[in-house]
Amino acid sequence: MVHLGVNIDHVATVRQARRTDEPDPVWAAAEAELGGADGITFHLREDRRHISDRDAHVLKQTVAVKLNMEMAIAADIVDIACELRPEQCSLVPERREELTTEGGLDVGRHRQAIGAAVDRLRAQGIVVSAFIEPAEAQIRASAEVGCAAVELWTGGFAHAKTLAEIAARVEELRRGIEVGRDSGLEVHGGHGLTYRNISRVAGLPGFSEFNIGHSIISRAVFVGIREAVREMKSLLERYRPQES
Ligand code: PXP
Repeated sequence: MVHLGVNIDHVATVRQARRTDEPDPVWAAAEAELGGADGITFHLREDRRHISDRDAHVLKQTVAVKLNMEMAIAADIVDIACELRPEQCSLVPERREELTTEGGLDVGRHRQAIGAAVDRLRAQGIVVSAFIEPAEAQIRASAEVGCAAVELWTGGFAHAKTLAEIAARVEELRRGIEVGRDSGLEVHGGHGLTYRNISRVAGLPGFSEFNIGHSIISRAVFVGIREAVREMKSLLERYRPQES
């Protein structure tokens, strides 16, 4: 069964709108676990716009499922990750002006700097994943720098407007999974996945993990986090590929 990582940054974003202490992303993580989340994902951004250092430390102490830290390869963030030692770190590009992580990391171009960060994290026993576009060169470069997993950017699929474009993006992901598995990598997916579009990617054989945030937390405003996570889990089960 594919693993569902619930991204709780969006809860911290609401808290930061008032710079107060609620809603607490740590509570959100506990609620997500009670709804059946297989993992909790958070992004400690360099600008600390949502998740704080306190959140990261309390999540480490309290999360009982897989803890996945999204992060840039900036040296001070790598220092924090090495000290925190979450089970998995997902390397992402970061630009201050972006609304959310847009597109993937260019592993081919920044091979040396990314490789150095991967080495430091792996030395702490952390599983390292790279968030990349589903392009063969990026996938192979991720394996070469020592990543154990890649998270394929599903934003291209999620933003596609026409049936032909959607089909082309699904095919790109299918091929990405093939190349990833062939390179010995675990293949994850994330970004822009929703209750409405999950069926197409959930039906692709070979994905072992999805990280989903905005849609689940949006649904949770109406039904609560536990129920929102349960609903996504049941869609993943319903559309799961026949052979897995
Ligand atoms: N995976 C990664 C690497 C991300 O950066 C994000 C966005 O924070 C997500 C998954 C979740 O994306 P969304 O909030 O669109 O579900």
